[in-house]
Amino acid sequence: MPELALLQQVVERVRPLLGQGKVADYIPALASVDAGKLGIAITTVEGVTLGAGDYLEPFSIQSISKVFSLTLALTLYEESEIWARVGKEPSGHSFNSLVQVELESGIPRNPFINAGALVIADLLQARLGAPKHRMLEVVRKLCGNERISYDRLVADSEYQFSARNAAIAYLMKSFGNFHGDVNTVLQSYFHYCSLQMSCADLSRAMIYLANRGVSLTGERLITQVQTRQMNALLATSGLYDGAGEFAYRVGMPGKSGVGGGIIAVIPGDMAICVWSPELDKQGNSLAGTAMLEHLSQELGRCIF
Ligand code: DON
Repeated sequence: MPELALLQQVVERVRPLLGQGKVADYIPALASVDAGKLGIAITTVEGVTLGAGDYLEPFSIQSISKVFSLTLALTLYEESEIWARVGKEPSGHSFNSLVQVELESGIPRNPFINAGALVIADLLQARLGAPKHRMLEVVRKLCGNERISYDRLVADSEYQFSARNAAIAYLMKSFGNFHGDVNTVLQSYFHYCSLQMSCADLSRAMIYLANRGVSLTGERLITQVQTRQMNALLATSGLYDGAGEFAYRVGMPGKSGVGGGIIAVIPGDMAICVWSPELDKQGNSLAGTAMLEHLSQELGRCIF
């Protein structure tokens, strides 16, 4: 069990990095976030949460929501139905690239790039009467916080600037790998991305990835094997074209979002969430990655 002092030390060690990255600015609602925020929280499989810095402040989880979407899809579909429509390989391209979608006949490389997450959102839309409501229910229960909500401003703003995601969805539709109404699915996808959660909330919600598929309340979400598989996909694709560098420096399965959050997992032990809004060139939190690197070294823990 890490000491609180270690988490505080990790936060202070990366503070000098502030100013080196760039806050996401493709929508005004994200560009206006205070770039100086720094937070870290861990939750152990015993259910203890510790945090330092701005770890209780909610932020836009963005692509971290793709973990919840895939998990929910695994509870609704046969695995073969999911993997017929999306791959399991790292893309080596930016998270919102169209290039491979065209070259690879509309089958996205993995469920964590935008194309893959849009296919997963399409699957959820097809099987759930009210997918946005269901997602909120699942996430609230996972972290035990009924106040979790969508940020309508962020969701609406994403929808206003949705040309690239719409292009990806329509391109996949042209290959027959997108079944629903593009605008309806985009609305759901942007809402999932707009979930507002703190580092504490996210480290608690993600504990099932460290606990063989079992949540904080003792409920099984996915099987033990599916959890191992999810962690493998996170380790190879969770940080997009920065996945290799992240594996090298941090050595944990992880998922980032352009809001500056990153979740990481030490299987059997703990789920971690860091937050710092300034991003590196790949769209991953710059100081967030550094916090995880320090923590991994100080704990002497990684999966390799
Ligand atoms: O769809 C998008 O492009 C954004 N809502 C989410 C992208 C994202 O978080 C990528 N992560 N680093």
